[in-house]
Amino acid sequence: MRRNLVVGNWKMHGDIKSNQILLESIIEGLRDFKNADYVVCVPNPYLFQARSLLTNTNIAWGGQNVNQHEQGAFTGAVAPHMLTDLGCTYVLLGHSERRNLFYETNLTAAARFDGAIKGGLTPILCVGETLAEHEAGLTEVIVASQMDAVMATLGEQEFAKAMQLNMVFAYEPVWAIGTGKTASPEQAQLVHQFIRNRIARRNADAAAKVRIIYGGSVKAKNAAELFAMPDVDGGLIGGASLRADEFVAICQVANNVTSSACLTE
Ligand code: PGA
Repeated sequence: MRRNLVVGNWKMHGDIKSNQILLESIIEGLRDFKNADYVVCVPNPYLFQARSLLTNTNIAWGGQNVNQHEQGAFTGAVAPHMLTDLGCTYVLLGHSERRNLFYETNLTAAARFDGAIKGGLTPILCVGETLAEHEAGLTEVIVASQMDAVMATLGEQEFAKAMQLNMVFAYEPVWAIGTGKTASPEQAQLVHQFIRNRIARRNADAAAKVRIIYGGSVKAKNAAELFAMPDVDGGLIGGASLRADEFVAICQVANNVTSSACLTE
């Protein structure tokens, strides 16, 4: 049975004071939710604060990216063990903003994915097509190439480790991120199903277990219809994760909605 997962991606927002208010409100709001998993991915300087406030709550925390190397002369980079040292269990990888604004590629995503699982972090691999690719009917081609670049580098052992760490896929159509345009639940379902089928080509058990979350303008008002889709196992939330009431409401939907796939195993 797959539990829903809601991940807040704070991006480059926040300061010590506002983070404290936000985290305290989220802790309070999520206190009684037991049926899903909740994560906030905060900017690296605030991981210590996240650890202080979130330890012994039902909310996990993670990084927004990680370098593949264990250590070394890599100015500005953060190693996997540095995130785990600060109690992180998750890390976002291959987010479209990293790809588009910071020149990351399928190759770097693959290397970082490998580094993350070696370091014991649960990777959340973001995939998704741009508006031009969407309009050209290339969604599946792009998503497949982004997935394959990572999956092909994983040997059997690494794949097993990634599964043991409960690797997550996030489908985020780039045209839906921060734009207020959301993929329709049916559009999201089709791509999520495509992702799951592609994993099944490698390992059917893994495909049934892996969580595929949707990101791109998820709000409290559209979360229920998205999360009700059989292959949508929760959401990756940007803007709405910075507002405690919105984030809590989205988490409540994840807590309440049990997609039909969740009932099958
Ligand atoms: P958004 O961002 O919810 O603000 O669209 C999602 C993301 O980039 O992960």
